[in-house]
Amino acid sequence: MTDSKKFNPAKRKKLNNPVRLDWIPPALIWNVINPGTGSTFVDIGAGTGYITQHIANLAGPAITIHALDIEPLMIDEMAQTLPADTCVKPQRMQRDSLPFADNSIDGIWLITLFHELEPPEPLLAEIRRVLRPDCRMLIVDWEKEMKACEQGPPFEHRISTDTALQTVTSAGFDDVHQIPGFHFHYGILAKKA
Ligand SMILES: C[S@@+](CC[C@H](N)C(=O)[O-])C[C@H]1O[C@@H](n2cnc3c(N)ncnc32)[C@H](O)[C@@H]1O
Repeated sequence: MTDSKKFNPAKRKKLNNPVRLDWIPPALIWNVINPGTGSTFVDIGAGTGYITQHIANLAGPAITIHALDIEPLMIDEMAQTLPADTCVKPQRMQRDSLPFADNSIDGIWLITLFHELEPPEPLLAEIRRVLRPDCRMLIVDWEKEMKACEQGPPFEHRISTDTALQTVTSAGFDDVHQIPGFHFHYGILAKKA
């Protein structure tokens, strides 16, 4: 377990670049993650909460989105910059530990976090523990192709789509498949049986 791929929080303003909303459309995330009846969602590695808040704008006030990060600077940033009436709740988490009861969460997404997990299996097990049966997890991460490396982390830090699909399948998720609609990223949608 190392921090060698972890995003440098000093560069956090880069996460608020509006072009990222074209690359990683919030509506696409919300449409695939929300089964229609859920009320409690989690964004793991939420960073500044920039994409989280755009998803919240689509979700509406009756929903709660817990925005977790291990980095205290990110929690402070969210607390200072998110709108006062937001349904996004910033919360610090410890590595590989989700502060929720078993079978209590209606959907979870991780945006450009997966490649930073060294290794990802302990967090995937936690995600399976807290998701309600039939609820979904979406992983959005950087494609491991040279043409996609003009932006984002170095090639050697990235996890290929095939490896990510295999890792999520081996972690015990059901219906693991890739979804289209991202520019420099892949999306992997999976369900807890
Ligand atoms: C590249 S940033 C992406 C932030 C946000 N998802 C976005 O797309 O705007 C990755 C974030 O994950 C956080 N992070 C790194 N390792 C983590 C871990 N093991 N658990 C939770 N958060 C983590 C970092 O502090 C950082 O805020």
